[in-house]
Amino acid sequence: MAANVYVQTPLTEYQIYIKNSYDELAFAIQTTNLCGYTAVIITDEIVDRLYTFSIRELLLRIFTNVYAAVIPAGETNKNHETLIALYHKLQEFHADRQTVIFALGGGVVGDVAGFCASTYMRGIPYVQLPTTLLACVDSSVGGKTGVDLGNSKNIIGAFYQPQFVYINTSAIQSLPPEQFSAGMGEVIKTALIRDAELYEYIRDNREAIRNREETPLSTVIARTCRIKAKIVTADEKETGVRAILNFGHTFGHSLESLSGFGISHGHSVMHGCRAAMYLSKLLGYDIKDHYLSDLTELLEFFGLSRLSSEYPPDLLYDKMFEDKKTKNGELNFVLITDIGFAQIYKNPTKKAVFDAIQYMMDYR
Ligand code: GLY
Repeated sequence: MAANVYVQTPLTEYQIYIKNSYDELAFAIQTTNLCGYTAVIITDEIVDRLYTFSIRELLLRIFTNVYAAVIPAGETNKNHETLIALYHKLQEFHADRQTVIFALGGGVVGDVAGFCASTYMRGIPYVQLPTTLLACVDSSVGGKTGVDLGNSKNIIGAFYQPQFVYINTSAIQSLPPEQFSAGMGEVIKTALIRDAELYEYIRDNREAIRNREETPLSTVIARTCRIKAKIVTADEKETGVRAILNFGHTFGHSLESLSGFGISHGHSVMHGCRAAMYLSKLLGYDIKDHYLSDLTELLEFFGLSRLSSEYPPDLLYDKMFEDKKTKNGELNFVLITDIGFAQIYKNPTKKAVFDAIQYMMDYR
């Protein structure tokens, strides 16, 4: 199994355990001194059926009361209604400041449960138990929590770090193909911005990774988490380098939002990575022609499908201004200068952005 990964921020530090079962979860809880009275598992209706029973049994060895609060699945439920319902549940369970929340699920569960933990009684401890690949390699790490407002992604939220993250890689085995594929989008994104060797590793081991063989799978998870942990350690609040994790996200969020979340976050980011690489080339970086075709081929290998609807470029462009990276009405993009190297590009011309949007939309 891969070695654990460590995150350190100015106010806290925590482990990302990478295991292939939940056998060491109790140890992780005890090591973190979380032996309280009440634990609340927050999960969604799909993950609930798979894991709540066994996690609850495990937590009952440590906590006197273990409750579960189940939220509806899907990005359209990542909103304040779900959040308010959770606060009521916590009150019903007599949750206090020592109560520990266990966010068991994918990115939506992690974001909502984390934000709930950050605000209930001005902050109670929580643990991330990600069950999707995307949550393992991205959303569970780094303390970004929040909810959407209408179609605007993560517009209400907080940076609030978990007590620890516990990844059980065997959970990835039961993921539906489209969710595995969405997670690979974030893995490939991370390789593109920071790790050319990882990008090569993914290309060379694509079959084994897609077959979810244990060693290559835990290798890409650990390596991606390590990069993310390093970036978060350097810049917890995204005042600098952390922004590069948003490669492909300005295009991607815009597409995701305009599709009414019909295109998942992971797949929107995959489309966004193609557009962002194209924009990098347009703006003069040394992006070889084959980089774009190689990336498209790799994303397709991991399940990216062509866009089935047409979204007007001007609406996609306007939507970008709702992005949190917009500063003083100017769009900022994360671009790559080569595979494994990223930087922020401020205020590119509207024409260049439109051309990149068009490139993304032509993939139909
Ligand atoms: N998902 C990007 C970040 O955590 O900063």
